[in-house]
Amino acid sequence: MILVTGGAGFIGSNFIHNWFSHSEEPIIVIDKLTYAGNLGNLESLKSKPNFKFIKTDISNKEIITKLLKDEKPRAVINFAAESHVDRSILTPRPFFETNVMGTLDFLDSCKEYWEGMLESEKKGFVFLHISTDEVYGSLKKSEDSFVEENKLKPNSPYAASKASSDHIVRSYYKTYKFPSIISNCSNNFGPFQYPEKLIPLTILNLISGKKVPVYGDGKQIRDWLYVTDHCLAIELILKKGKVGEVYNVGADNERENIDVIKTICNKLEEILPSKSNGGYSRQIEFIEDRPGHDQRYSIDSQKIQDKLGWKSQISFNLGLEQTIHWYIKNREWLENISNTDYKEWILKQYS
Ligand code: NAD
Ligand code: TYD
Repeated sequence: MILVTGGAGFIGSNFIHNWFSHSEEPIIVIDKLTYAGNLGNLESLKSKPNFKFIKTDISNKEIITKLLKDEKPRAVINFAAESHVDRSILTPRPFFETNVMGTLDFLDSCKEYWEGMLESEKKGFVFLHISTDEVYGSLKKSEDSFVEENKLKPNSPYAASKASSDHIVRSYYKTYKFPSIISNCSNNFGPFQYPEKLIPLTILNLISGKKVPVYGDGKQIRDWLYVTDHCLAIELILKKGKVGEVYNVGADNERENIDVIKTICNKLEEILPSKSNGGYSRQIEFIEDRPGHDQRYSIDSQKIQDKLGWKSQISFNLGLEQTIHWYIKNREWLENISNTDYKEWILKQYS
């Protein structure tokens, strides 16, 4: 049995669907169900006997200690976090509450559980902390991709809170020998992503005739990773990863934001031709830049390829087509998610 936090969010829910496509090993999810958590993401699993959902905060030591004692997971994956950079700029506090103090409280509960295990069980236990390449800061075009040895130089409040969580996890390994691993991945995309992030927001704004905001000149670069490729990497790390190590995960898909947006416009034109003259790209609108906007992320994932045999399976183009089709087919999914006036809210704050 494995325990998954943040399983009602984007990557966590994809991980669980992927897991049950080939395994019957039980999963227990704990999730606070913030605006980003949506039980609809797990709807098809609710009658499975080997799946359990518990609504709680990762900081709740009482509930989590009891849960660990009763359920005895062999591994824990910590996805739970506040995850959106724009929100962290507007309201940093929840990012530090969950990503820093929440991670600390949760690690502490898990460490106590691990200390109480039999020596024979202790060896197999692992705590996998899911983190981001944003902890490494921003790269110039000429600079090499992020490797695991890079210094952490976070720029946004979100990145600072995740870098802090990485440091805490590392300190628990170094100080208490608590068997943890950290993975730092690049920007994910795919089904079930809350439409405040660039790709789902662009798809849904285009379909619904809204403007597509591009921050600054749109030439910032992100390194895109299809979510199921990330899920495969997580499973491999769980199976074969070495405790105390860090693994970077990325699929060598560096793209300027404006190119990503234009590619979505073109693909959408083929799938669902726009009714207006000039096509979907007429909806693109350049707006004020994000404060402290990181220029470029780029991940070197040689380590996980060499040591664990991971390789991405889905090309950027195929992943993008699948994602566009998913959002077109699942528009009713939007009705279940909270705060659909997300973008108006964010734009108001910046103007
Ligand atoms: P998400 O925002 O879609 O989901 C986060 C989930 O965590 C939600 O279900 C939310 O309800 C839950 N949660 C938040 N605070 C909680 C708390 N205090 N206690 C319990 N549950 C809580 O995020 P995501 O995109 O799925 O990201 C998952 C993890 O991957 C995060 O740690 C994020 O930092 C990391 N990451 C994401 C990306 C990406 O592109 N999405 C890239 C790199 C790293
Ligand atoms: P985002 O999906 O928020 O991820 P992150 O900030 O964690 O990389 O944004 C991806 C890139 O797209 C980032 O450079 C900011 C930019 N962006 C826009 O230009 N317009 C938007 O509406 C959003 C949400 C993002």
